[in-house]
Amino acid sequence: MNKSKTGAGSDDRLILARTRRDRIREGVTVITKGEGVRVFDQDGKSYIDLVAGVTRPVHVGYGRKEIAQAAYDQMCELPYFTPMEFANLPAMKLADALSEITPGRINQFFFVCDGSEAVESAIKLARHHHHNKGDKKRYKIISRRGAYHGTTVGALGILGTVLPMRQIMEPLSSGTIFVESPYCYRCPFRLSYPHCDLLCAKDIERIIQFEDPEQISAFIGEPIQQGFGAYAPPKEYWKVVREICDRYGILLIVDEVICGFGRTGKWFGIEHYDVQPDLITMAKGISSGYLPLGAVGCTDEVMEPIETFHHLHTYANHPVSCAAALKNIEIIKRENLVENSSKMGTYFLEGLKSLEAHPTVGEVRGTGLWTAIDFTVNKKTRAPFPPNRIIHIIERAKKKGLIIKTMGQALEFAPPLIIQKEEIDEALKILDQCITEEEKK
Ligand SMILES: Cc1ncc(COP(=O)(O)O)c(C=O)c1O
Repeated sequence: MNKSKTGAGSDDRLILARTRRDRIREGVTVITKGEGVRVFDQDGKSYIDLVAGVTRPVHVGYGRKEIAQAAYDQMCELPYFTPMEFANLPAMKLADALSEITPGRINQFFFVCDGSEAVESAIKLARHHHHNKGDKKRYKIISRRGAYHGTTVGALGILGTVLPMRQIMEPLSSGTIFVESPYCYRCPFRLSYPHCDLLCAKDIERIIQFEDPEQISAFIGEPIQQGFGAYAPPKEYWKVVREICDRYGILLIVDEVICGFGRTGKWFGIEHYDVQPDLITMAKGISSGYLPLGAVGCTDEVMEPIETFHHLHTYANHPVSCAAALKNIEIIKRENLVENSSKMGTYFLEGLKSLEAHPTVGEVRGTGLWTAIDFTVNKKTRAPFPPNRIIHIIERAKKKGLIIKTMGQALEFAPPLIIQKEEIDEALKILDQCITEEEKK
């Protein structure tokens, strides 16, 4: 048995997500504390967390006692009550707060525990809408190759990435249609923008016609996509998708699980494209990870035909998570963290651009505080870097006190939105060293 170094428990009894067992046997790092943009391990070693908890939720940074206090107060007042037939105050207040900051006509909200549940709820809400309108044939969902929308069976069904988590669980729910992603650096059609005439968006119409438009319920996509590394589509992309959806009565679900709550320098990622979604999904930055929370939001038109929403989770509209989220949103507003994401994002991106001199750095990109380096073994052909070399860079960085993560062929960065120039400079220096060392090898 592998006793953890803290003596606090055994790390081989705890099942870790997507972690090789031999890594667990070697002994994994136990993170015990966080403060600001830094976390500390069981030996007291400090790391700059350049990925906000690695899955990127911790927008307001670590050590926010006022969120803990809000959760504590709510637990004392009312820890739980059913989401059926009864409402609770924090959930009502959070719905009001979200209606003010979410894009345009998004106005009604249902709270769940995480991003996957938010995506499941959005898919079900879209089908429910069509069903109640008498459009009972509409069940298919259009998703994009390279997309990630979560880990529950419904969310895996629309996963556009080749991952064991999908393959092991197949067969999944039927009715997913995959279209290509906008990924200009390695365009799936081998075209280049703007001469491509936005084929990645326009081709969706051809696929819809083939699949029978009357069977399609919704299109889902992240406004800026994590697969390939924080990829922002060309500026006209979402308008074209919206027009196609409108032509065929297809609902547009925008997955804001990562982009939402300031990650890209605006409250929501779709604001960069000035397009009105019918539904949005949220999680991560909604509570900065202090408590589990996800949400689906939709326009009044989506809810209009739904007399009763036939969907239930015991912990839906959870009062304590909603109270924590309200305090989190208050902090984001009070400290202008959306603006800081935009400002520091620009500064960070400029710093990353200086790394483009490295022979293996293919493209650097980013929107707000969501940035990435796409590596290549050949700048002309843009052939991707072998994934194990990216892992080596991540391991080197960790030894030097910097936590970063891989996203496909890229390195991805999504620090807490409170990050300042000095921390960015420190992180860039370590990154530069790690890339140089890996290239020398
Ligand atoms: C865009 C997107 N949607 C959905 C999810 C699923 O969220 P969760 O892991 O909270 O279930 C994720 C998770 O990373 C995500 O990035």
